Amino acid sequence: MLRGNYRRGAAAVFWAAFFFYTFSAYAESLNDWAKRVEPVALKKLLANVSPSGMVAGTVIASPSHEYYFHWVRDASIVLDELRKSDPKTAVSILGDFAKLSREQQKLQTRSGARGLGEPKFNVDGSAFTGDWGRPQDDGPALRAIVLIEEAKRRWMSGDLAGAKELYDGKIPTESVVKADLEYISHHWNQTSFDLWEEVRGFHFFTRMVQRKALVRGAELARLMGDRGAADWYSKQAGLLKKEILKHWIPRKGYLVATLGRDGGADYKYSGLDSAVVLGVLLGSVGDGFMGVSDSRVRATVKALERKFRGIYTINKRAGIPGVAIGRYPEDKYFGGNPWVLTTLAFAEYYYRLGAAARGDEFLERVKTHVYADGSMSEQMDRSTGFMSSMADLTWNYAAFLSAVRLR
Ligand code: NOJ
Ligand code: NOJ
Repeated sequence: MLRGNYRRGAAAVFWAAFFFYTFSAYAESLNDWAKRVEPVALKKLLANVSPSGMVAGTVIASPSHEYYFHWVRDASIVLDELRKSDPKTAVSILGDFAKLSREQQKLQTRSGARGLGEPKFNVDGSAFTGDWGRPQDDGPALRAIVLIEEAKRRWMSGDLAGAKELYDGKIPTESVVKADLEYISHHWNQTSFDLWEEVRGFHFFTRMVQRKALVRGAELARLMGDRGAADWYSKQAGLLKKEILKHWIPRKGYLVATLGRDGGADYKYSGLDSAVVLGVLLGSVGDGFMGVSDSRVRATVKALERKFRGIYTINKRAGIPGVAIGRYPEDKYFGGNPWVLTTLAFAEYYYRLGAAARGDEFLERVKTHVYADGSMSEQMDRSTGFMSSMADLTWNYAAFLSAVRLR
C-alpha cells in the first residue's frame, strides 16, 4: 500500500515536471523568448569575462569547476561576438585580452616549440601544466581573427600607436597579432588537435579559421604598410584553400572533419562533425569559398541533421520542433549528448542562408531545453532533454547572441 502510494506519488511528480517542462516552453513565443533572453545572455557572458579576482582579459569557459580555465578558443570566439553585440564594452576588454595573450604567448608551455598552440591557461594567467591534447592550432587563428578587427578599428580611428601595439610589422615580433600570424603561416602544414581536443590531424575547422586569419591578416598588413608580410600571408591562405577542398569526400557526400589523423581518438568513423558547420560560420570570409550556400556545405548540413535526428531520443519525441544537434555521432563525452552551441550554430547557419523558418526550428529546440531564466549549460541530455554537463557555458551565450543577431 505504502509502496503503491509512493509509486503513484513519484509518477505524479514526474508527470507534473514533464508537463511543466514541456508546456512552459510553449507559453512564450519564440520572438518574446529571444527578446527576453538576449540581455540575459549578454549579462551572463560578461559575468564570465575577467571574473573578480582573476587576471584582466581572462574568459572562463564556465563557472563549473572543471571548466574554470581560460581557453584560447572559447575566449576568442566569445570576445569576437562581444565586439559585435556590445562594441563599447568590448574595447577595454579586448585591450586586456590582447595584453594577457601576449604574455601567454611568451610562456614556456608543454606545447614546447609549438607554444602558441597551447589550448588553455589557468585563471591567474599562468600555463596549465596537466596532460591535454596539445597543440590546438585553431586557437592562434581565432585569437588573430578577433584582434585583427581591434587593430583595424584602432588604425581607422587614428590610434596608430594602439594598432602597432597589436601588429608591429617586425621580425622577430613583439606584438600579439603578428606573432599569431607568423605562427599560423609557418605551422598550418603540421597536424594539431581539433577544437574538441580529441583528435590530432588536419581539421576542416582549424584550416578554415587559419585561412580566415591569414586573409584578414594580409589585409591588415597591407593597411599598415607591411607589404612583404601581406603577400606571404595571402600566399599561405591560397595554399590552405587547396587543402580545405580535400575534405570533400564524394563517396560519402559530405565534408569530413579530419584528414591525416596521427594521434588521439580513433573511433570517429563517419567523419561527420558539426565542427564543419562551425568552421563555415567562423571561417568563411565572404569570397564565395566554402560559404553557407556552397553545395558541399549544404550537403554536410543535411547529412548531420539526418544523422542527429536518428540517434537522439529527444529528436523522436513528438511535438518539439527542430533537431537537437551534437558534436559528432560517435561522441562519448558525458554520454554523447546534443549540445546547445552546435544546435545554435545550425540556427545561425539557416539564418545566414536566408532560410529563417528553418533557423527558427533550431532556436525553438534550444528554447525548449534551456532553463526558463535563460541559463544554458553545455549539453542537453539525449533522452530526457534536461540541461547537462557544465553550467553557464560562456560560448553558448556567444552562440546565442550571434544567432539572434543574424535572425
Ligand atoms: C575534455 C575536452 O574538453 C572534451 O572536448 C573531450 O571530449 C573530453 N575531454 C574527452 O576527451
Ligand atoms: C570542450 C569542448 O570540446 C572544447 O571545444 C571547449 O574549448 C572546451 N570544452 C571548453 O569549453
